[in-house]
Amino acid sequence: MPDAGRAASNPHIDAYIARGLKGRILSGVQPTGNLHLGNYLGAIRNFVRLQADYDCLFCVVDQHAITQWQDPKELASQTREIAAAFLASGLDAKKNIIFNQSMVPAHAQLAWVFNCVARVGWMNRMTQFKEKAGKDRENASLGLYAYPALMAADILIYKATHVPVGEDQKQHLELTRDIAIKFNNDFGASGFFPVTEPLIFGAATRVMSLRDGTKKMSKSDPSDYSRINLTDDSDAIAQKIRKAKTDPQPMPETEADAAKRPEADNLLGIYAALADRDRADVLREFAGQQFSTFKNALTELAVARIGPVGAEMQRLVKDPGYVDSVLRDGAERANALAKPILDEVYRIVGFLKP
Ligand code: TRP
Repeated sequence: MPDAGRAASNPHIDAYIARGLKGRILSGVQPTGNLHLGNYLGAIRNFVRLQADYDCLFCVVDQHAITQWQDPKELASQTREIAAAFLASGLDAKKNIIFNQSMVPAHAQLAWVFNCVARVGWMNRMTQFKEKAGKDRENASLGLYAYPALMAADILIYKATHVPVGEDQKQHLELTRDIAIKFNNDFGASGFFPVTEPLIFGAATRVMSLRDGTKKMSKSDPSDYSRINLTDDSDAIAQKIRKAKTDPQPMPETEADAAKRPEADNLLGIYAALADRDRADVLREFAGQQFSTFKNALTELAVARIGPVGAEMQRLVKDPGYVDSVLRDGAERANALAKPILDEVYRIVGFLKP
């Protein structure tokens, strides 16, 4: 009888535990549009924390980016910019693998196999496709439709055990799990791919627009005042926070009060995340105070936390030779990990060796 009190051992994780790690992480960021505070607090800053406990790969997903048209020059510079943001935020390029997707052909090679494992019915349920394709679905690229199979390949080509994801990517991770299970079943390769676990970062790191507390902060919002970009200087940060929408009341007294006031709640959440404190703790300091007092404190904090990251990013972007060398080195190490797994997949599927 198995010991009911003990978690079942997972062979995919055990090898990492033996090395003092909790597992292997892969995450991807698309090089489309400027990075903002939402990307930083919701994703990149969490990566920085995870690097201590996991074997990590951080991928700039340029192949996902072109599922919607990208200007080639912009794509190249945005790819470097994401890599620069990773480095500027404190990701260690030696300890982790930082690379761009198109430099590791095994992603696309495994994605083709997954296109043949995933079902059309599964893809039809993907809400991100519906959102991105909009009304003119007939005119969306085939790549946009197959996007989640490529994402599954990004993860499973390294047999990643954990993926840090925001709420909006949960459905894609579910699909990744379905693909892993179906592949293992269809080919009688029980346990070959891991059933990857999500690492969900809670609502604490969900950053909303500065103009509308009910909408996510987004790079596609036409108003630049809706977001704080990682490369904004201190004047821009100060101005955006000063102009951020609020209601006429002073700072809320309790978290329940705050929850009823989306704009106030968002600024409170941003403060708490930047200060690494919880909301209740921040409220103990600011409850009932004038909003302008709180905004001044928030500005000071945001400038202190984001300013140095933006400045380091700008410095790195001016040194593309260095950024490119990080990506090349990362790709080499990623290729070395991916190659034996792809070889094994090809053997399992029945492809002849060259
Ligand atoms: N779909 C993700 C997003 O839009 C990006 C992504 C691509 C990703 N491949 C991934 C995220 C693998 C995590 C793991 O944010």
